[in-house]
Amino acid sequence: MKKKKVIAYNRVEKPVLQALKEKYDVRFFKDIDTKTDPAFLAWLQEAEGIIGLELKVDQELLEQAPNLKIVSNVSVGYNNLDMEQLNKRGIMATNTPDVLTDTVADTIFGILIATARRIPELDQLVKNGEWKQEAVGPEYFGIDVHHKTLGIIGMGRIGQALAQRAHFGFDMNILYHSRSRKPEAETKFSASYRDLDNLLREADFVCLITPLTNETKGLIGKREFQLMKPSAMFINGSRGKTVVEPALIHALQTNEIAAAGLDVYTVEPVASDNPLLALKNVVTTPHIGSSTNETELKMSQLAAKNLEAGLNDQTPPNLIGD
Ligand code: GLV
Repeated sequence: MKKKKVIAYNRVEKPVLQALKEKYDVRFFKDIDTKTDPAFLAWLQEAEGIIGLELKVDQELLEQAPNLKIVSNVSVGYNNLDMEQLNKRGIMATNTPDVLTDTVADTIFGILIATARRIPELDQLVKNGEWKQEAVGPEYFGIDVHHKTLGIIGMGRIGQALAQRAHFGFDMNILYHSRSRKPEAETKFSASYRDLDNLLREADFVCLITPLTNETKGLIGKREFQLMKPSAMFINGSRGKTVVEPALIHALQTNEIAAAGLDVYTVEPVASDNPLLALKNVVTTPHIGSSTNETELKMSQLAAKNLEAGLNDQTPPNLIGD
């Protein structure tokens, strides 16, 4: 029997890709223009499944994919997918929740600590041979994390894993804002619900971990930064477009807020002339939240499971509902 054609895009861990290749006719694409690449477009015509990271699946792409049954994202976020177009065509879409929750929470909490305690800056100080006096001066002191107030925007699985770390590990006071109240998180982590404005006013650390949707696009802009304390630190572990980046840059340049820790940007990879990169009070990582050796493998494995279910007309474990 002819093997079903599959597109693997951008990132699928090697052993998983290998296993898929044994059963399906898989072609891996990376660093291509998906609008013009002839090999990709030809494969798309016949592909029944797509597995990968951050492929923009829109009407234009779907019009060239008449045989497509499933798009399996190797990520929990699915803002790359036009769900309306996929639903209209009866094409399944899946993501990889749960397996990455703790890893992303670790990353975000790490960035938070790095920002508060200025760890990357201090690392550079030591490595550049600029540590001249035994006791470094107050110009290098950061602020405490423990016992401070953490405001979490987006209290889903990752938000709650963050609250767990903050509450049990750092004795932090937890505020949260979410589409719905989370009674379990309120009990387990003594988290208090706030409307967005009050969360922004009260938090020492504002941590954004909401998915990118039409409702959350540009959620944090000029007005929101003005509401934050001048001592507040802003941490973004969601998607770059949930923030109005010029407003963030302005808030940091004018000390409207104290610092930011960022894993995501409006444009990725971030441009080398982005003013954020020139600011001392910004800690950056390259959208690496879920990417550890262990978790990337688990995500690829789960995505492959979803893909195979879809290719075989079964309901995948992580079908994205509308
Ligand atoms: C990472 O950003 C993900 O959505 O999995």
